[in-house]
Amino acid sequence: SYIRVFAPATVANVVCGFDVLGFAVETPGDEVELFVVSQPGVRIRAIYGDNGRLPLDPEKNTVSASVMHYLQQIGREDLGIEIVLHKRMPVGSGMGSSAASTVAGLFAIHHLMGQPLSTADLLQLAVEGEQLACGQGHADNVAPALLGGFVLIRSYHPLDVIQLPTPESLICALLHPHIEIQTRDARKILKPYVPLSDVTIQMGNLAGFISALYNQDFALLSRCMQDVIIEPVRSILIPEYQSMKSIALSGGALGFGISGSGPSVFALCHEVSTAETILSRLQAHLQQHHIASDIFIS
Ligand code: HSE
Repeated sequence: SYIRVFAPATVANVVCGFDVLGFAVETPGDEVELFVVSQPGVRIRAIYGDNGRLPLDPEKNTVSASVMHYLQQIGREDLGIEIVLHKRMPVGSGMGSSAASTVAGLFAIHHLMGQPLSTADLLQLAVEGEQLACGQGHADNVAPALLGGFVLIRSYHPLDVIQLPTPESLICALLHPHIEIQTRDARKILKPYVPLSDVTIQMGNLAGFISALYNQDFALLSRCMQDVIIEPVRSILIPEYQSMKSIALSGGALGFGISGSGPSVFALCHEVSTAETILSRLQAHLQQHHIASDIFIS
């Protein structure tokens, strides 16, 4: 038998929720095909769209490794599975590229096997897949890629994930500048300790943001899109970050920030036309600095 699954890109952190908040977008996303074959073991048949960047070794590739773990967990290591991965977004982009592939692979094997595990088990396996890809098992990309919409990671140990309301009228403008930042590296530069006063600001913003989602209060949502802990450190890695932020906010965005660990940036808006205008201005601005970019609206 055979299955083909799509999983979306995701915006992790969402400015005020480092490692605990993320949402799924409609586009881009990755696709995974699984083929059941007679020869036992999990193998990668082909990867398209990665420019030869991703490992083909089934132990090292997060999709195949996750599928293997899944089969181990249900006691079906006797099965033969071949994987074709279609990367439709760049690696190291900050749009949850590894998460989309991992989730697509896990969802595919889960459905091929008749869903013998719970969604919670699936999520745990996906987090372990992220550990392999990024050096640390954050869940703020895999959880929204799997569940859709906005998701809060209330706790990691034990994993406790809460699906949040996703206002229909909220538009995400996403821009991927053609530079690469590895999540591993973007995590290493973060400070391990933060001042208590910054924690207070961040907690207020995160709580306010979640309340805004429940109440569809866009003015509150906008006030909460402020990050005093991560952005000051990571924005240095992104060329023209401050100018892009000014362009987005003066263009009417509710908020602007780094998508995941960057270099992609995103703006939340409540009009498609606002999102379109902002993206074309940002793209033109980067072009003046000889940086090409891709843009997406969800
Ligand atoms: N929360 C993670 C980080 C997401 O910021 O490192 C990576 O996409």
